[in-house]
Amino acid sequence: MTDHIPDDISPAGRDLREYTDELRQKHAIVKNISDEWVLLKHTDIVTVAMDHERFSNAVSNYLQIPNGLDGEKHTHYRKIIDRYLSREALVPYIPVFNQVAIQLMKELPKGKVLDAVNDIGAVFAVRAQCQWLGWPNELEPLLLEWMADNHAATRSGNKEEMRNIARRFDEIILSIIRPRQVLTSKLNDVTARLCRETVYGRLLTEAELISILRNWTGGDLGSIALCVGVIVQHITKHPKLIEQLRVAEDGEVEAFIDEVLRNDDPFVSNRRITTCPVKVAGHDIPSGAKIKLNWTSANRDESMFGENRFNPEENKPNNLIYGIGKHACPGRLLATWELRIMLQVMLSSVQTIKPASNQHAEREVAPLGGFNRVPIILS
Ligand code: HEM
Repeated sequence: MTDHIPDDISPAGRDLREYTDELRQKHAIVKNISDEWVLLKHTDIVTVAMDHERFSNAVSNYLQIPNGLDGEKHTHYRKIIDRYLSREALVPYIPVFNQVAIQLMKELPKGKVLDAVNDIGAVFAVRAQCQWLGWPNELEPLLLEWMADNHAATRSGNKEEMRNIARRFDEIILSIIRPRQVLTSKLNDVTARLCRETVYGRLLTEAELISILRNWTGGDLGSIALCVGVIVQHITKHPKLIEQLRVAEDGEVEAFIDEVLRNDDPFVSNRRITTCPVKVAGHDIPSGAKIKLNWTSANRDESMFGENRFNPEENKPNNLIYGIGKHACPGRLLATWELRIMLQVMLSSVQTIKPASNQHAEREVAPLGGFNRVPIILS
């Protein structure tokens, strides 16, 4: 029985969070214009994300490591990736990220309108990620330009444009890995070490390296920038929080950030493909159908979070901002630390963070989440 399901969840110009809030009141599942089944409820999304047999990650025709892989192959590659994103591997970068945030705050003009997404979030994300990966600082303008174009292409939904943008990114990555693949290279940064990793008794191929690095940067620079926008917008709306957060422990600040992002999750969705006929959210779905897990909707589902009160501790176990199951985000700790450090440094570098008068925060539109622009004034 699928006849009452609306077939368009891709409305141009609409705020996806608000739209999925409305849809969820009537439907647990809807179909979008790309013929994908979009799941909206927390419980269905968790069920699908945990069922790795009937819901495969091999959705795209492009090589996607590790997110497009299933089973043993996924486990094999994921082990390599997890090593770079463990607590032990990331601890040395804490002072580095701190320094990046301090430098950025020094550069930002006070008393003038700034955009928290693009002037703070995007610049911090690019600089922090370049430092972590050992990429040259000179790439900053190129990466920032690429991020803006990537967002524009995603917004437009133009497939050809999106392919061109992806190609441009691959060229940037190639220019970085080529010198590191030379056997005599003395470079020993994260990217160089990745170039020396072996899988199934051989070095990672160039295509595999590009795919892994695209995953660590291409999408995630944008996610970090959008997250900064959501967090800053939240604190400007609740100025009392600024004092509380200034004296809070690291763990408390991280829990606060997770809860803000649960309520306004800018990392909207991921896909699966069915490996057999299945029943999901009460509907019969054939084999080979594409399913979209809408994390933003799940994270606000009233059947899980009731009246959706701000409660970091209570909501933590069901927070899906970093996903769930075998494909849950391996970059969670890196993202959490980057976001926490950026926020703490911002709070300690200025007296006030206020929304710019006469300028409103602009929501991103489907298929992106969060804000396109959050105008603020630091003093
Ligand atoms: C705030 C920023 C971030 C958010 C909200 C986020 C969210 C997510 C989510 C929801 C998934 C699950 C995907 C699925 O189930 O299909 C995921 C997967 C993934 N994330 Fe993140 N992520 C963030 C930052 C990062 C960073 C910084 C990195 C690495 C440097 C990273 C690397 C990955 C990878 C490699 C996967 C695929 C894992 C797999 O398939 O096994 N993410 N992320």
